[in-house]
Amino acid sequence: MENLLNKASLRSWRESIPPHARVGFVPTMGALHEGHLSLVHASKKRCDLTVASIFVNPLQFGPKEDFANYPRTLERDRSLLEQAGVDVLFSPAETDLYAADASTYVVEESVSQPLCGQFRPGHFRGVATVVLKLFNLVQPHYAFFGQKDAQQCSVLERMVRDLDLPVTLILGETVREPDGLAMSSRNRYLSASDREKAALIHASLQAAARAFALGERNATELERIGRGVLERDGSFRIQYWEARHPASLHRLEKVSEAGALLAVAAYLGSTRLIDNLRLKAPA
Ligand code: PAF
Repeated sequence: MENLLNKASLRSWRESIPPHARVGFVPTMGALHEGHLSLVHASKKRCDLTVASIFVNPLQFGPKEDFANYPRTLERDRSLLEQAGVDVLFSPAETDLYAADASTYVVEESVSQPLCGQFRPGHFRGVATVVLKLFNLVQPHYAFFGQKDAQQCSVLERMVRDLDLPVTLILGETVREPDGLAMSSRNRYLSASDREKAALIHASLQAAARAFALGERNATELERIGRGVLERDGSFRIQYWEARHPASLHRLEKVSEAGALLAVAAYLGSTRLIDNLRLKAPA
């Protein structure tokens, strides 16, 4: 695996590869887990060359968020990516990626607004900006993102469509621990007792999905059922637990043929966890 530490070396690598090579790209912030590695495997299946990046992007963290404490495990990540067969790891310094007086940003103005957008102002602007920069540098044919970050996927799909970016996004299924907890770099912050409780987040989504399977179509009722699972425990500080239209992310009264995205964000102690589940109406 080649370890490229700055934009100049990535650009030279990109210019050196055969023109017909299919390039797959897995952008990450490191602290890798099976979810990230599943995206690498998907890229290796589809592409001739796989690039991964590790960059903890300051632009997507709010002033009171965990940028300084975000887990940084570069050596371990490097060996995981190497074992998984990544061809190039791009891990630039902040001063290399961003000009000190950078003043241009990518702002998606619709699907970035609700859910996390309400609680993390500027977050999706930071994500879209860094992902566009990385796309411009790596010039991938395919880029791989996990559906655990469903709203991020929606924002990036809009960006690719609206700005005519020559890349296809491939969205990978959420990879879960045996008890259902979605894998996340932030799970390592959880205390042992909170780690046990964290499985209730997925259980809350499943409770609503069961009600949906039994015929419940009222969005408020589905939200009440899911939210209730977390509220009964008493340890969660729920930011949102909502059923939204899967494409527009607009509020729903009734779940129609389009189905719904059930999405939740909740704090356990000082750790913010998100998860989601897609409801598909029976054919
Ligand atoms: O999902 C992530 O880890 C980040 O938001 C991403 C896409 C790497 C951009 O910094």
